[in-house]
Amino acid sequence: MRLDKFLANMGKGSRKEIRIFVKAGIVTIDGKPAKSFDQQIDPEKNIVKFQGELVQYKPFVYLMMNKPAGVLSATEDSHGKRTAVDLVGEEYSMYDLSPAGRLDLDTEGFLLLTNDGDYIHNVISPKKKCNKKYYARVSGKADADAAQKFENGLVLRDGTECQPAKLEFLSDSEIYVTIHEGKFHQVKKMSKAVGLEVEYLKRLSIGGVALDETLGPGEYRELTAEEKETIVHE
Ligand code: URA
Repeated sequence: MRLDKFLANMGKGSRKEIRIFVKAGIVTIDGKPAKSFDQQIDPEKNIVKFQGELVQYKPFVYLMMNKPAGVLSATEDSHGKRTAVDLVGEEYSMYDLSPAGRLDLDTEGFLLLTNDGDYIHNVISPKKKCNKKYYARVSGKADADAAQKFENGLVLRDGTECQPAKLEFLSDSEIYVTIHEGKFHQVKKMSKAVGLEVEYLKRLSIGGVALDETLGPGEYRELTAEEKETIVHE
């Protein structure tokens, strides 16, 4: 990676400023003044210091985003639509972020973005049983035994088998659904199978970690180390 990109991404100034800092000799690499702003460094091996202070490189980042409706969670095939990754600022541009499980275009709430592929696998793999809890506003009339059907594991009209899930009623038109799989439109389809049409959907939590209520639509922050561990243990 180029030295100026690395330092800019680590918040040490604009690329232009960094050229000046390098010229002034305040950037050192492995104890020696950096030769030029565009020299290549390996952030995992080289010791880069800025004004004598170590510039700490994090290989992985884990972001909790409050995804707004109208934003795609996919990183590709966006056909000009805004994606969740587009909402993430310059400071994370060096990280190749992907969502750990998708949300539909009209679904809001907790979207986890990271460049850690193993972590994504653990969050989305049904084997890991990482629960995702949703709030939904619904219309229609639920089957009397809807919650039991969820608990038993529903079979959708197209034959898709869903693993046991949890359905809780807040009122006739508001439910919580907890699943640990991520099949396409799963909450909407499972709800439909018991007579409920989802009109609004929001993901509230992943692996027992709730979406930070202080995050407005489109806002994000890094997960704490504890949150990251709670969601899935390595
Ligand atoms: N289930 C759905 O139907 N949609 C989502 O966005 C997530 C889960």
